[in-house]
Amino acid sequence: MEDSERHSKFESPLRYPGGKACIFPFISNLFYENNLLGVNYAEPYAGGSGLALKLLFNEYVNEIFINDYDYSIFSFWHSILESNQRFCDWVEDVEIDIENWKYFKSVQKNPDKFSQFELGQAVFFLNRTNISGIIKGGPIGGLEQKGKYKINARFNKSDLIRRIERIDKFKHRIRLSNLDGIRFIKNLDKKSQNTFIYLDPPYVHKGADLYMNYFKKRDHEILARQVEKINHKWLVSYDNNDFILNLYDNQQRLRYSLSQSASNRVGNEILVFSGQLNFSDSIEKLKNVELIQ
Ligand SMILES: C[S@@+](CC[C@H](N)C(=O)[O-])C[C@H]1O[C@@H](n2cnc3c(N)ncnc32)[C@H](O)[C@@H]1O
Repeated sequence: MEDSERHSKFESPLRYPGGKACIFPFISNLFYENNLLGVNYAEPYAGGSGLALKLLFNEYVNEIFINDYDYSIFSFWHSILESNQRFCDWVEDVEIDIENWKYFKSVQKNPDKFSQFELGQAVFFLNRTNISGIIKGGPIGGLEQKGKYKINARFNKSDLIRRIERIDKFKHRIRLSNLDGIRFIKNLDKKSQNTFIYLDPPYVHKGADLYMNYFKKRDHEILARQVEKINHKWLVSYDNNDFILNLYDNQQRLRYSLSQSASNRVGNEILVFSGQLNFSDSIEKLKNVELIQ
């Protein structure tokens, strides 16, 4: 995934550990299979929003509702939605070097001392210059820049500006929020409009290493009980483990393989489907599918 990023089949300006844009062929088929074309689409745990953007740009959905509780991620999206030109001008001008990396690291660590726009810049800069895009991690090539790849290896300015500008063209169909995922779901459920909800919460394993906000077991349990009550059609994805399979044991579930940029290997993942969803045709687009009884 990292190498092909240079050719830019990606819509999101963010690199995201566990990013789900790669299941677009499956999701787009699922939309056909269930007559979902033109619905509104919501992601309570949106992160890089790669899948949401692909669905929007390819006109599968009407509006996307992207939510993330991480204030720095939210600040990035807010900055490019509200101040797109200013953000692109900054991307054009910023020097991609260790001195700036240290500066933006200090911004990200002291969010109260900086504006929302500066925090958005910081999270973007760190996401594009850190190993695997992990905000908490270190820069590509190391602080001494002795590695094979250097800090600017994932910072193709013209391509990133193109991605950010494209989002601007669709911004009237993008609704952004910074709520706890469960609060966001409850708010959506009060709306009667036809909405599809895709939930990709923090991983059970590794979540604490990858994301700024991560889940404890209790959080996964509370979420599972809330998901059962959702009035709209929904889909949940997770890393494969028995704890989650048991939490959703009265739902339709399957395992499949997804290659992960963060671990650089093929990993097993789980999908859980709301009762009304048909997926027998769409799963042809997934690798190594195993239905769970
Ligand atoms: C697995 S990642 C989502 C990746 C996303 N599907 C993508 O393709 O880029 C989980 C996201 O949930 C966010 N998050 C963690 N706790 C949250 C909470 N309580 N409510 C909403 N978002 C939360 C994290 O900041 C992270 O961006």
